[in-house]
Amino acid sequence: MALSIVILAAGQGTRMNSEQPKVLQPLAGRALLAHVIETARALDADTINVVYGYGGDTVRNAFADEDLTWTLQAEQLGTGHAVAQSLPAVPADHQVLVLCGDAPLLAVETLAILCDVVTPDSFGLLTAKLADPSGYGRIVRDADGNVTGIVEESDATDEQCAIDEINTGVMLMPAGWLARVLAELEPDNAQGEYYLTDVIASAVAEQLPIVTVEAPDANEVLGINDRAQLAAAERIVQGRYAQRLLDQGATLADPSRIEQRGDITIGKDVFIDVGAVLIGRVVLGDRVRIGPYSVIENSTLGDDCIVHPHCVMSGVTAGPSCEIGPFARLRPGATFIERVKIGNFVEIKASEIEAGSKVNHLSYVGDTHVGTGVNIGAGTITCNYDGANKHRTTIGDNVFVGSGVMLVAPIAVGDGATIGAGATLSKDVAADALTVARTRPTTIPGWRRPEKKPRD
Ligand code: UD1
Ligand code: CA
Repeated sequence: MALSIVILAAGQGTRMNSEQPKVLQPLAGRALLAHVIETARALDADTINVVYGYGGDTVRNAFADEDLTWTLQAEQLGTGHAVAQSLPAVPADHQVLVLCGDAPLLAVETLAILCDVVTPDSFGLLTAKLADPSGYGRIVRDADGNVTGIVEESDATDEQCAIDEINTGVMLMPAGWLARVLAELEPDNAQGEYYLTDVIASAVAEQLPIVTVEAPDANEVLGINDRAQLAAAERIVQGRYAQRLLDQGATLADPSRIEQRGDITIGKDVFIDVGAVLIGRVVLGDRVRIGPYSVIENSTLGDDCIVHPHCVMSGVTAGPSCEIGPFARLRPGATFIERVKIGNFVEIKASEIEAGSKVNHLSYVGDTHVGTGVNIGAGTITCNYDGANKHRTTIGDNVFVGSGVMLVAPIAVGDGATIGAGATLSKDVAADALTVARTRPTTIPGWRRPEKKPRD
């Protein structure tokens, strides 16, 4: 049976108290809706339709690169109305799986079970039993346990509110049937909305068999309506991601104190200390050690690299056995071939540093090529910017740069050069020689410092 998925993402999310459409709120670094789309993709549906509305094209534009069918729900009149808008794009002989854009934690396996057990001429409903069901629609059953309806909390009696079985928002229905019953929906409820949940009454009336599947894990059905639920969902996702790293053989100093906001690949025996924030595409080789409190974004660290505490890096490529930090700031294009050492309070940008070279303290290296076996002394700066243009610095192999050297780019330093501390250089530096540029000290004997006048 052909399957079409409809994802509801038109609501404002009033309870978020945000200017952004709710489905664009980030969870583990990606929009809520991105998680739902990813889950939908794994189900192998014929089409994925997203209903958008609040915030206009912002939601649609956020997924411009994806192959999706979009339906505008110009006025958000309720979940039933939202599904109805999308149905003209769905062939009548398809099954429609409705997912909510604000329920990002659902497991593909759970949805696959629902799709498996629900036949094309029946109504499938994913439910869950929650210790605290507040906020959700409650599943009402008769004495024999047959579903008779779903009642929204705002319309429920005290007795119904006590029901712990809830509507997850996931339903699987025959498209032609759904289109017909949605057309008959009335907004006669506390919120004055067209409720998708009301179609269940039609299923009961028409004796369409109702098949319920209970989600195995109550956490996966969490619908995100406010910031507290968003924070709770973040902890659940982070817990899952941390577990995945543990399963892959990483040691985590504390699995509850690592944040993954992207796609993390690790080798064998990686160690990650507390407070690591990994963003985007991060690749860590075998035996990489990440010290406490570092932010690592879109970077690749080769085997045996060590990151000492409190480093911030983005767009870095490091080969094996590099040592970074503490307190290093590495910006896009920082590339270390192997055994490179970057020490404290060093900033590197768009620079390639070859094997065994060291920049250990308080330096800025930008738009630079550094050869092998180079030692760059404390407080050295490649002065790459003249206020209008960026210029390159080239440092050969086995160069020794003394402390406090200003290399005014464009400039090249020849292989084997030694530069004495404190030089400001704006011309190329000779290979295999000592270059010193330092004013001789002037001493004025008997000179006295100015003194403050005594107060009256
Ligand atoms: C809905 C269900 C409730 C269920 C809960 C699960 C209804 C009437 N209620 O309640 O039974 O327990 O989800 O999380 O269906 N949306 C639109 N257009 C609209 C209204 C909503 O696209 O006009 C979208 C929202 O963006 C959201 C989803 O539908 O992604 C659910 O809407 P929401 O207002 O959050 O419904 P709930 O009150 O949570
Ligand atoms: Ca919701």
